[in-house]
Amino acid sequence: MKILFIGFGNVAKEMGRIFIERDLYSALDFKPVVVGIFTGRHGGLEKKEGIELKEVLNELRLNNRLTADEKELSSLTPLEAAKTLDYDVLVELSALSIEGRGEPAASHISAALMRGKSVASANKGPVSFHYRELKELAEKNGALYLFESAVMDGAPLFNFCSRCMKGASVKGFSGILNGTTNFILSHMEKGGSLEEGIKMAQEAGIAEADPSMDVDGWDPSAKAAALANVLMGADMTPFDVDREGIRTVTTEMAKDAVKRNMRLKLICRGWKEGDAVHASVKVEEVSRDDVFCLISHYGSAVRIESDLMHPNTIVQECPDLLDTAYGVIEDLITIRDSSGLI
Ligand SMILES: NC(=O)c1ccc[n+]([C@@H]2O[C@H](COP(=O)([O-])OP(=O)(O)OC[C@H]3O[C@@H](n4cnc5c(N)ncnc54)[C@H](OP(=O)(O)O)[C@@H]3O)[C@@H](O)[C@H]2O)c1
Repeated sequence: MKILFIGFGNVAKEMGRIFIERDLYSALDFKPVVVGIFTGRHGGLEKKEGIELKEVLNELRLNNRLTADEKELSSLTPLEAAKTLDYDVLVELSALSIEGRGEPAASHISAALMRGKSVASANKGPVSFHYRELKELAEKNGALYLFESAVMDGAPLFNFCSRCMKGASVKGFSGILNGTTNFILSHMEKGGSLEEGIKMAQEAGIAEADPSMDVDGWDPSAKAAALANVLMGADMTPFDVDREGIRTVTTEMAKDAVKRNMRLKLICRGWKEGDAVHASVKVEEVSRDDVFCLISHYGSAVRIESDLMHPNTIVQECPDLLDTAYGVIEDLITIRDSSGLI
């Protein structure tokens, strides 16, 4: 499988490490060859016969550059690479942009799909802003667009619904889908402040340098929109989600909830009213006998309600980059299985 990476940050580097350290060929008959790596500020590399990942990872780690030889850098932009290079699968791992409405990632993905090339991506921008058109483009061109890691960092959520709930109709979902705010709320229950919680989450490497994506509920809104679009046939964006962050929560409120045997959680919900799908992200009090109450630190959980099963809840305990990277690799293996590539 000839892979083009667009975006080569934390998740892609972890995938690179797994490609190097795991013998995926013996285990899975899977032999990825990376023919292109394109980034935002670090430029791009292309090599038909395959890029030596070890060298790139070393250069990035030691010198924060893709290659020691600047002449090796490609003259193509990421979009041009998606449109013109010879590859089998695009792995789209550029940064999420809410204000850019999922761009330029959505354009990278469309460019690949239009050429009949499948896409694996952990970027929730395209799936929360452009799912319907990307899905149609994939179907029209006989390609797959997979994004297991876009919500819950690779825990099998979309795969669970598509592979294990065939014929069932999803009626609604609820979940704790933002680890950073869950971590901060857990800290506040113990008497800490919101600001301290943000700082600790940043030091632990789980919050963005600009915490507003988490604290103001944008990241969970993107995830709620993605779930509503994919599981419930909605055509919404994160801007359509009734969104509330955690800035209005005080330490006293968090401690008071605990005293009453409750916990404050930032809960994403999706539900149907007639044919219309709605979604929200709100701080809610959760009782001790609700499984969401058990989600501490930066864990997450989602409960899926359908017409043919009682609710199923998927719980993920403190995921890290390994989970996200593996989720993308699992998508690649699904693409491989459907295409006859190795
Ligand atoms: N980290 C996680 O645990 C996690 C979990 C779930 C989902 N995700 C999603 O997975 C994606 C990758 O995450 P990450 O943590 O690897 O991000 P990251 O470390 O910030 O890396 C982002 C990469 O995207 C590149 N990039 C930025 N703008 C670009 C553009 N316009 N065109 C092409 N490349 C561009 C950056 O290049 P430069 O550095 O050269 O600018 C960098 O290589 C994001 O969409 C993120 O939301 C991440």
